Amino acid sequence: SKKYRCIEVSAVEQGTVGLISLNRPDVLNALSEDLMHDLIDALQGLDASQEIGAIVLTGKGKAFAAGADIKELKDKDIVSIFMSPFPSKWNDIMKIKKPIIAAVNGYALGGGCEVALMCDIILAGEKAVFGQPELKLGTIPGMGGTQRLIREVGKSRAMEMILTGSYFLDAQEACQRGLASRVVAGSNADLINEAISVAGKIAKQSRPAVIIAKAAVNSAYETSLQEGLKQEKALFGATFALADRKEGMSAFIEKREPQFVHK
Ligand code: HXC
Repeated sequence: SKKYRCIEVSAVEQGTVGLISLNRPDVLNALSEDLMHDLIDALQGLDASQEIGAIVLTGKGKAFAAGADIKELKDKDIVSIFMSPFPSKWNDIMKIKKPIIAAVNGYALGGGCEVALMCDIILAGEKAVFGQPELKLGTIPGMGGTQRLIREVGKSRAMEMILTGSYFLDAQEACQRGLASRVVAGSNADLINEAISVAGKIAKQSRPAVIIAKAAVNSAYETSLQEGLKQEKALFGATFALADRKEGMSAFIEKREPQFVHK
């Protein structure tokens, strides 16, 4: 597998799950431009792989990611922000078709929280902390936080988090509010194993059906209910062109496990 500067990538679960670890633990996995390029390249590679069915994203050390790299941003000017691929290239995470599970082991602050929000499932470790401290730096969330957080935790809480910069959600509260799906008790290793296990279950499903399901759910973000239901209808219909759909239903009737061929 490819060597990266700021991340580690491996395949687990018999090669069906891609595991990406942000690997700048000395700076709490601050999201530098190099890290962004590494991460997006790795995600695109896993998305294109025949074997991989789902992806787990986590951080080495005590943070998931403590935000954009403040040392790198400090001397930027308005032209370089508007002309460079940073931060808009982060949105390429949204183009990944396979599910991404964020295993949030510690700080997910600023851009770190926003990257987690771009993932499809967030599992929170006991030490997870979610927050948007950008206002304290004289700036605002710039990787989707002003748009996505409000949909997960509601306007009042999103406003308090963003405007004070210091209202952080711990793992329990993040789950109560629907930001994370659940807290995984135990160590970081327990969290990552649980995330891999969830990803493994996803990877056992029909790959095309998984990709279609992710696209259908995400259309709820982009469009009205009526339009979303139209898309669901079309995508549901499309699954009837899959060999896997036929196999899944036949296996149920024949009381056996389905053998998906991912076609
Ligand atoms: C660069 C960072 C960093 C960051 C931490 N470090 N966060 N470096 N960018 N975002 C570095 C510290 O400078 C320090 O380096 C080392 O990591 C360890 O951090 P400490 O502060 O010593 O750790 P601790 O006391 O445990 O405090 C943890 C923390 C704090 C509460 C998470 O590090 C913190 O507040 N970090 C910044 C969080 C933040 O403001 N994020 C938003 C960034 S802006 P040294 O060299 O001193 O050892 C953003 C905008 C996104 O995300 C929009 C798109 C552009």
